[in-house]
Amino acid sequence: MLLTQKTSNPWWKDAVVYQIYPRSFQDSNGDGIGDLQGIIQRLPYLEQLGIDAIWLSPVCRSPQDDNGYDISDYQDIDPMFGTLDDMDELIQKAKQHNIQIIIDLVLNHSSDEHRWFLEARKSKTNPYHDYYVWRDGTPDEKPNDMLAAFGGSAWEWVPELGQYYFHQFSVKQPDLNWENPKLRREIYDMILWWMNRGIGGFRLDVIDQIAKEPDKKITANGSRLHEFIQELSKETFQKGDLITVGEAWGANTENTKLYSNPDNSEFSMVFQFEHICLDQQEGKEKWDLAPLDFVKLKQVFAKWQTSLYQCGWNSLFWNNHDLPRIVSRWGNDGEYREKSAKMLATLLHGMQGTPYIYQGEELGMTNVSYDIEEYRDIETVNLYQERLDKGYDKDPIMQSIHAKSRDNARTPMQWDDTAYAGFSTAKPWLKLNPNYVTINAKNECSNPDSIFHYYQKLICLRKQYPVFVDGKFELYLPDDPDIMAYTRTLDNETLLVIANFHDQTRSIELPFAMDGELLISNYEQMTEPMTLRPYEARIYRIVRTN
Ligand code: NOJ
Repeated sequence: MLLTQKTSNPWWKDAVVYQIYPRSFQDSNGDGIGDLQGIIQRLPYLEQLGIDAIWLSPVCRSPQDDNGYDISDYQDIDPMFGTLDDMDELIQKAKQHNIQIIIDLVLNHSSDEHRWFLEARKSKTNPYHDYYVWRDGTPDEKPNDMLAAFGGSAWEWVPELGQYYFHQFSVKQPDLNWENPKLRREIYDMILWWMNRGIGGFRLDVIDQIAKEPDKKITANGSRLHEFIQELSKETFQKGDLITVGEAWGANTENTKLYSNPDNSEFSMVFQFEHICLDQQEGKEKWDLAPLDFVKLKQVFAKWQTSLYQCGWNSLFWNNHDLPRIVSRWGNDGEYREKSAKMLATLLHGMQGTPYIYQGEELGMTNVSYDIEEYRDIETVNLYQERLDKGYDKDPIMQSIHAKSRDNARTPMQWDDTAYAGFSTAKPWLKLNPNYVTINAKNECSNPDSIFHYYQKLICLRKQYPVFVDGKFELYLPDDPDIMAYTRTLDNETLLVIANFHDQTRSIELPFAMDGELLISNYEQMTEPMTLRPYEARIYRIVRTN
């Protein structure tokens, strides 16, 4: 297994991760669906960007009820994406480009077509029955009123058994029973098998939900959660030198010190969402839209930055396959698309943690506004029906879908302006964003001032200056409604990151004087040193003079 020489920091601490949603990245066999050989073709592009690792959304065998987050065989590749040989080739070829492959482990649930579940539902005495979460009941009386994330009850009746099984997501994603040590052992053996194939790391899907206690209506943060994770880590990850990232919607700064304990007893880092849910109405679903509270956003970032300093590690992200495109969401996807995309990148990459770039973010890809027939995501399709049934009008439902649908992030990668955007030679599984004729990788790579090259430069800076990795964070101007300003300090080195989050020019006054060298900025000509034009962002290396 990997890796670079040991320094005081683990290898992944200055790494930048790029997330690939395989079905939308690059199709190599003309079926309109991205695949592993397609990713192999694009490795030189990723090396040029400068990333260190690819997080691959699930490619294991799956009926694709939730686009692969419903796995029916953890040790095989879905034919839609290729074969195990393709996967081995990807792992090896990626290494030749200095890139590690992180695979997505979906361990909270399997597919209902997994052989464990097919066995489990045969009888209550089947050895696999207890791999899942069952409760007795009658057809008219569910164990309780818990709801599934994709709509409807979290309990599904199996008449032959006279029992319900528990599913936190779709009915085709039965929850695994982590209380069962035999199940846990099978999972560890499967992970070791992947490690032997040369995997560089794992992303653990909704890992905070594995220790569910449905009788108490507990999903995230069950009482045995950290015991399970520590055992998992000891039996598997600690035998290698991996990057591991736990997706945890229920994380807070306190439990993250456990999840990402520098003693390596759990994961390398968490992937938590507090900052990204700030335009959601309090206590409401993600579909109930609210404006972003920018001052709150800064507070949340500052809280995570300071609480985890030297005792934990966080992921830095604006996007993933479950979230809308950030430039449409909190930037400006019209006149200031390029400026705001670079500003958002600057704010994020200046902080402490591991930056994640979601495919197309480096091109400034935007949201889409399709008619309902074009959407493929199970959550979106179910939401639409559920809200119609509840009596909502179509227009507000579509407004929410345009703003928040997961398919915003899943439209195919925009490589060039040819038919199907260079993604495929056939009609893609999900409609392309029509703006691919102008927003595409070919244009971005040939323009030295592009968003792509800006990301490339940010990645280089992280490698060049250790202060990006280890510097202590301090927030300035916390109440300013437009400006985010912070420093990062390590020994004698200080970085100053300043950004205008909005589209009006603003002058700012910092509480200290300084001399500085400008490391990066998204505007060519400098104006007054402390006047920031719409969405302007800069990073300085500074010396404070008072
Ligand atoms: C989180 C994943 O990111 C999402 O795409 C998926 O639908 C759920 N977990 C269920 O696996």
